[in-house]
Amino acid sequence: MTKFGVHDTPMQELFGEAAFAAFDDAGVGPDEVEALYFGNAMGGQTENVTHLGPQVATHVGLAGKPVQRYEDACATSANAFKNAVEAVESGRHDVVLAGGVERCTPETGLDTDAMTRIFASASHRQYEQPTGLTFPAVFALLTKRHMHEHGTTEEQLAHVAVKNHGHGSLNPKAHFGKETTVEEALDGPVVADPFRLMDCCPFSDGASAVVVVSDDLADSFDAPVDVTGVGHATDVVPLADKDTPHVTQAARDAATTAYDQAAVTADEVDFAEVHDCFTGAEVLASEALGLVEDGQGGIAAAEGRTRRDGEMPINASGGLKAKGHPIGATGTAQIVELTKQLRGTAGDHQLSGVECGVAHNLGGDAATTVVSVMEGRA
Ligand code: COA
Repeated sequence: MTKFGVHDTPMQELFGEAAFAAFDDAGVGPDEVEALYFGNAMGGQTENVTHLGPQVATHVGLAGKPVQRYEDACATSANAFKNAVEAVESGRHDVVLAGGVERCTPETGLDTDAMTRIFASASHRQYEQPTGLTFPAVFALLTKRHMHEHGTTEEQLAHVAVKNHGHGSLNPKAHFGKETTVEEALDGPVVADPFRLMDCCPFSDGASAVVVVSDDLADSFDAPVDVTGVGHATDVVPLADKDTPHVTQAARDAATTAYDQAAVTADEVDFAEVHDCFTGAEVLASEALGLVEDGQGGIAAAEGRTRRDGEMPINASGGLKAKGHPIGATGTAQIVELTKQLRGTAGDHQLSGVECGVAHNLGGDAATTVVSVMEGRA
């Protein structure tokens, strides 16, 4: 993956940086790669760039090869990854590239207001967009419901921010290298109640890519890790139509599929990268994946149970909160992180003794979710 942050680089070149790094890491050249599964969510609206698939394919030496472009809001490249895995699993291809790119900072020429409006296009066209609902507000409403049901507090949310900024300070690829404190988080300007500045992920630029190969070929590569389960589920889009909004049903369904495929239970998961676009989203995700008990997400963060030295490390990379969130690149960046942790090559933010990791990437009003289980290769 590229560093997440601010990049004055066209999307083709930014994706190329991640793709060439993936080729180098896998020891393959573009000639050996049979297809590209590519994610970009908002390029048409942010930079007037559509039909980006063949453009990035040409840039990375894959001209002529099949390219499929995915758009699933913030779950864009997790869906690309899922389809790459299925293409290899089916026997259609043996070696493919999956990844994504996005530019969301003012380098696009768009400020926070404009980018917020573009992101809001992922909410319901008739029932939500006319009300002015934005994504900080979507997740604020989900979190408010969780607070109402379980007594989760703003201070517990602040602990999620402190943890993820602390983790991000150890990750040189993270957008933010700075730590924060509970006091600073609770004193920040309100973005959408209960979220303050430190509860929100930033707008980021970045790209990520991974090489996916068949099980038969895997042992001919250096340090492969196994993708043992990928679950994908959707939910109704308008928040008002969700029966129990704070349980994020799509995440529960995707996790059930992924755990079943991998033949693991949540108890066997050693660490997770979850979609913490807002601190409250991490609380909901940690419960939906069964990593903590329902209602315990905020308490677990406040007690340090989800810190890198805790019993269930969550977002050791810094997560979206501190590592950043270039939306079309986020899903495969989580897969990069799981791969490095399982190989033991994550550098300063390496966890000890991890053998099974889970990635959770959601899009829109928690309406698309992809959950992937990865394990060290036996
Ligand atoms: N967390 C921590 N610090 C942040 C930050 C964040 N999310 N976003 C910006 N900052 C910092 C900047 O680095 C800057 O610091 P500096 O003054 O020391 O340089 C300062 O805050 C102001 O930055 P600016 O870009 O002007 O902030 P903003 O007010 O325009 O935007 C948010 C801040 C939180 C409103 C914006 O980042 C946001 O909307 N994030 C959510 C994005 C989103 O919805 N993604 C989709 C999720 S589903």
